Amino acid sequence: MLFAFASTTTSFLAGSGPLPRTVSTGATVRMTVTAEPEAAKSAELLYDLNEPVFPEVCEFAGVTLSRYVLEMARANPDKPELNELVSVMTAVERACKTISSLVRRSPMSGLTGLQEGGGAINVQGEEQKKLDVITNTVLKNALKFTGKMGVLASEEEDEPVGMEDDRADTYKWEKEVILEESGKFVAVFDPLDGSSNVDANIPTGTIFGIFEEPEACEVIDGNGDGVVTNDEFKDCMGATMQAGNKLVVGGYCLYSAATEFVMSFGGKTCQGFTLDEQVGEFVLTKPNMQIPARGKPIYSVNEANRWAWDPELTEYITTIQKGEGETGKQYSARYIGSMVGDVHRTLLYGGIFGYPGDSKNPNGKLRLLYEAAPMAFIVEAAGGAAVSGKGERILEIDPTDDPTGRGVHQRVPVFLGSKDDVAEMRSYYKK
Ligand code: AHG
Ligand code: MN
Ligand code: MN
Repeated sequence: MLFAFASTTTSFLAGSGPLPRTVSTGATVRMTVTAEPEAAKSAELLYDLNEPVFPEVCEFAGVTLSRYVLEMARANPDKPELNELVSVMTAVERACKTISSLVRRSPMSGLTGLQEGGGAINVQGEEQKKLDVITNTVLKNALKFTGKMGVLASEEEDEPVGMEDDRADTYKWEKEVILEESGKFVAVFDPLDGSSNVDANIPTGTIFGIFEEPEACEVIDGNGDGVVTNDEFKDCMGATMQAGNKLVVGGYCLYSAATEFVMSFGGKTCQGFTLDEQVGEFVLTKPNMQIPARGKPIYSVNEANRWAWDPELTEYITTIQKGEGETGKQYSARYIGSMVGDVHRTLLYGGIFGYPGDSKNPNGKLRLLYEAAPMAFIVEAAGGAAVSGKGERILEIDPTDDPTGRGVHQRVPVFLGSKDDVAEMRSYYKK
């Protein structure tokens, strides 16, 4: 027999921590599992989903990402909208595989360096690399052809963009952005996080989040002249922005020594897949990821900004550097400068990652909608904590309530990681 299957009926995903051990019993492979997943993290999540059960797992193929997504929809028959999400997730998966290959091949394919040889600037004033632009196109196209998307917001787009449809002749647009009436979902993404590192072969990633479209975005042609202005369009799109606890799916794909896809469906559990490059499939390698409440003594922050930090933060970091914090251990610094890589390590080993606000940049650098919120979703799903500079949960920050007026590109100070480390850091602000 070519394949052997697990015969246990216990959920393959019910365990936490390291890989489930497989024990061969003749032609049958048993998956041993441990504890039940933690109860629903918080009542305010959009969904309280049943985790899929994998009674049979192929010893050679494992549980693929596509199977996980399909089974997730099957395990929740009372939520038929999840079926529609299958093609969206297939698109995200496909885009991440393509981006992984583009990044890996870039030194040979001429895709290193700056867009247009320099001078291409995105709306946030950052110089775009060739790969920033290409990876944005890859994701946008993948999602567009699902026919399920209403709106996309990306780091590399000035404004959220709607998906093309046959309403093109209804309105004349100042911008070439059109809404899809049948769209059900809103996607937010950072196509290539850490792109400043990419030419040096340092880890990069894609961050993504999928929301349900709250309501069809109705465009109001204010002065009735048949021309929808950018502002009118922006208002309509702005209505689609939601807080992170309304994410249906959030996650990231890390392009490093291996390509790893980590996601949470519904925010209750966090699953890690690794790209099997020979087969071309993501395979579940880290079921039910759990971040230790106190893991390795690691802090991860750009210390060059220390001179501009809050005194509370300076005191906290100095204390743990000296080994005088709650654990009594001397903390080490680890900072890649690629959020996906730094968060992935934090998820696996524990510790604290931060991009704080400071006197120069009070809101820090990271963007709420497509960097901070999906990462907070993942970290909380794995049992960790993610807070802003004021200590509020990042998942509860309403992006429509943006004092900075940056809309989809609103920035927010971020601290995330092991629960006890985040709480210890916050305690310095409460003294
Ligand atoms: P991006 O490449 O998408 O603009 O994001 C880079 C971000 C993030 O990945 C990282 O945590 C941070 O910028 C690093 O910034 P500093 O160089 O200021 O530390
Ligand atoms: Mn980024
Ligand atoms: Mn980016």
